[in-house]
Amino acid sequence: MTLTIGPHAFEGTAVLAPLASVTSAPFRQICLEHGCSFAVTEMVASEALVRDARKSLRRTERAASERVLVVQLFGADPRVMAQAAALVVERSGASILDVNMGCPVRKILGGGAGVALMRDPERAEAIVREMIRAVDGRVPVTVKMRAGWDDESITAPELARRLEGAGVAAVCVHARTKEQVHSGRSRSEVIRLVREAVRIPVIGNGGIRSAGDAREMMEASGCDAVMVGRGALGNPWIFSSIRDGLDGHPSVEERFAVIRRHFELYVAHSGEATAAREMRKHLCWYLRGLPGSAMVRARLQGLSTSEAVLGALDGFEASLRAGTVVASAADFGAAPEL
Ligand SMILES: Cc1cc2nc3c(=O)[nH]c(=O)nc-3n(C[C@H](O)[C@H](O)[C@H](O)COP(=O)(O)O)c2cc1C
Repeated sequence: MTLTIGPHAFEGTAVLAPLASVTSAPFRQICLEHGCSFAVTEMVASEALVRDARKSLRRTERAASERVLVVQLFGADPRVMAQAAALVVERSGASILDVNMGCPVRKILGGGAGVALMRDPERAEAIVREMIRAVDGRVPVTVKMRAGWDDESITAPELARRLEGAGVAAVCVHARTKEQVHSGRSRSEVIRLVREAVRIPVIGNGGIRSAGDAREMMEASGCDAVMVGRGALGNPWIFSSIRDGLDGHPSVEERFAVIRRHFELYVAHSGEATAAREMRKHLCWYLRGLPGSAMVRARLQGLSTSEAVLGALDGFEASLRAGTVVASAADFGAAPEL
């Protein structure tokens, strides 16, 4: 099945979700190498972008094999969103612009952005119209929304139809309400209502942890693709699993090869000290559940050079292969809070 957004056709049906502080270029590159159809940058504040482009543009840099760069913007002012849209297209070469209409964080809601836009459809529509105008309709604009505000207000189908009329090229529906934040049942039936309400591609999101979950959501909702967020943390293999329709686990060798590549990409992107610091959470996710990982995860938290990080990984891989590690319940301990 091929997913098409504006002039862009994608192989496969699984997309990497935008995740603040996680989906920077190195992680997007890793996911693209594992069969993800496209990946979305973490959300970038339109106000900050317009005020001080240099710093925010770092978040919109293209990953090495990113044919289609999808940049997510958030904001509540249609004129500022339009300026930001033109800027990322011109300076970063963004291929698709996505608008965040799902974020439930209080600070963002307070400013009228994120999921607050689901309660203000006139403004939501003005934002996408202004953005499309600012890029002369040359770059598709998409929207990521939730099912609605709460159980009494499931407005995604209505909003999707309205935004399709305004020119939006695809919608993604995180099938939870604002009240559910990030937990509780993801409602595929709402994605189905959106699918029935519009003709543009609909991407379903929420709670996908396996190829089986992806299949279930696609069958239950009729969506054109699924978007995976937390299920990809420490697990870029989920994209090839969904593509092949088969769940499986990478070998120890494969797992460590990907971890090293991810770390090296990070060093090239951000320098050694930042890479060591920002990779800590990824390392915890990659290693969680492996026998003896609790001790190694704790040690990795204090390391700040490539040599030290790669040395610790080499040592751990060697002891896993030799079978000399002792498993403990803590190996399954909580991964870093997001
Ligand atoms: C830590 C974290 C950061 C997130 N950042 C963003 C973001 O920048 N933009 C956005 O639209 N959604 C963001 N989300 C929501 C996810 O994209 C996704 O909709 C949500 O996690 C549900 O999908 P999942 O169950 O596959 O994780 C974030 C979620 C988490 C947990």
